[in-house]
Amino acid sequence: MNMNQINTGNYTTLPKLSDIETSHSIRMLRRIHSEIEKTGGAISFARFMELALYEPALGYYCAGARKFGPDGDFITAPELSILFSRCLAHQCREILDQIGGGIILELGAGTGIMAAVILQELHTLDTLPESYAILELSFELRMRQRQTISKLVPELLNRVIWLEQLPRSDIKGIVLGNEVLDALPVERFLITTTGPRRLGVAWTDMYTTTGSTNGLCWTECKEDQSIITTISKIEAELGYKLPENYVSEYAPQLTNWIYAISDMLTTGALIFIDYGYSRREYYHPDRADGTLLCHYRHHAHTDPFIFPGLQDITASVDFTALANIAQSINLNLAGYTSQNYFLFGCGIMELLSDVDITNTFHYLEQARQVKLLTLPGEMGDRFKVICLTRGFDIPLRGFSIRNERNRL
Ligand SMILES: C[S@@+](CC[C@H](N)C(=O)[O-])C[C@H]1O[C@@H](n2cnc3c(N)ncnc32)[C@H](O)[C@@H]1O
Repeated sequence: MNMNQINTGNYTTLPKLSDIETSHSIRMLRRIHSEIEKTGGAISFARFMELALYEPALGYYCAGARKFGPDGDFITAPELSILFSRCLAHQCREILDQIGGGIILELGAGTGIMAAVILQELHTLDTLPESYAILELSFELRMRQRQTISKLVPELLNRVIWLEQLPRSDIKGIVLGNEVLDALPVERFLITTTGPRRLGVAWTDMYTTTGSTNGLCWTECKEDQSIITTISKIEAELGYKLPENYVSEYAPQLTNWIYAISDMLTTGALIFIDYGYSRREYYHPDRADGTLLCHYRHHAHTDPFIFPGLQDITASVDFTALANIAQSINLNLAGYTSQNYFLFGCGIMELLSDVDITNTFHYLEQARQVKLLTLPGEMGDRFKVICLTRGFDIPLRGFSIRNERNRL
């Protein structure tokens, strides 16, 4: 076994790693390898994803990689434009007004830019939440969030609290998550002639055609009742069997996650924005290779085994799964729509028209951002917004243009 090289798979166009990155990734790889050895030769893909993203000091979100923005690996909507977070603030205002105030809890806040802009906008609208809590697993990101908020809205920093786990007490208010569900570890499965099998992660000492010696590889696990039950349930809801050789994913932690959030919410709303599909689109027979997507310095590809600890790994969200879980625990599916309709409903064009047009450069830049956030083919239709509510029932502005909840 040689663990002194990092596999680039077939992706010869990926940027070269620095020496520091290489040694970091090798340490991550050793950590994964030792767990594979300890567990008898294979770990589940969900466990691999958990290690690669969240292992303290080594995982992608828990070590020092830049991650967000032009110098990082990907750009999220709040990083792209403050108009995105300003629109969300307008949706929050409507809900907070309706339920008589409350808190905002943001899950996985990245650099903290969304928190800062929402607080600023709600301050201007005179609807500040009682507090703005951020649940963030990564210590490094918690530090970055504090810096961003201190820099942009120092006068509102005292409203912000950081949590490492969900609050134990009841809360009234709004739970927000942008591109958080896609970062939850997923299980991957393959439909074989004898039924669905879990695809785990193993180690091989074989040299690949590219000559690399990084030996992480997929392995078909033994028959396992939990995967058979999960896939049978999905197939029963779809009304058809998934074809042989079909590969896809599901998020095993999603149910407990939503249960835990729902348990603490007395009145209010959950709003999640992410890329994903209804179940019928997610498990469409043509989508036969699943939805895994990895990002390294703005290169998107589908190999989760290269650059462990240095690249982001995501999977699309099955929004029907989310809606089903929610409805089973008495959360109302208030809305589901594409990001573009949500932003139009929240007034993005009005916000743009308030920008000083005589400052041509600034105006054109904001107009460009609106295009990227809303155009089909860009973020406009790839990203979806779902809102689950409890204890109040009003039509919400984000879903006023088009509400597609019946598609879930
Ligand atoms: C793709 S980033 C999105 C960051 C930010 N929301 C944005 O839009 O720029 C995913 C974020 O989710 C966080 N995260 C992932 N799993 C989490 C969990 N179980 N609880 C809280 N945060 C989580 C990560 O640490 C990271 O901040």
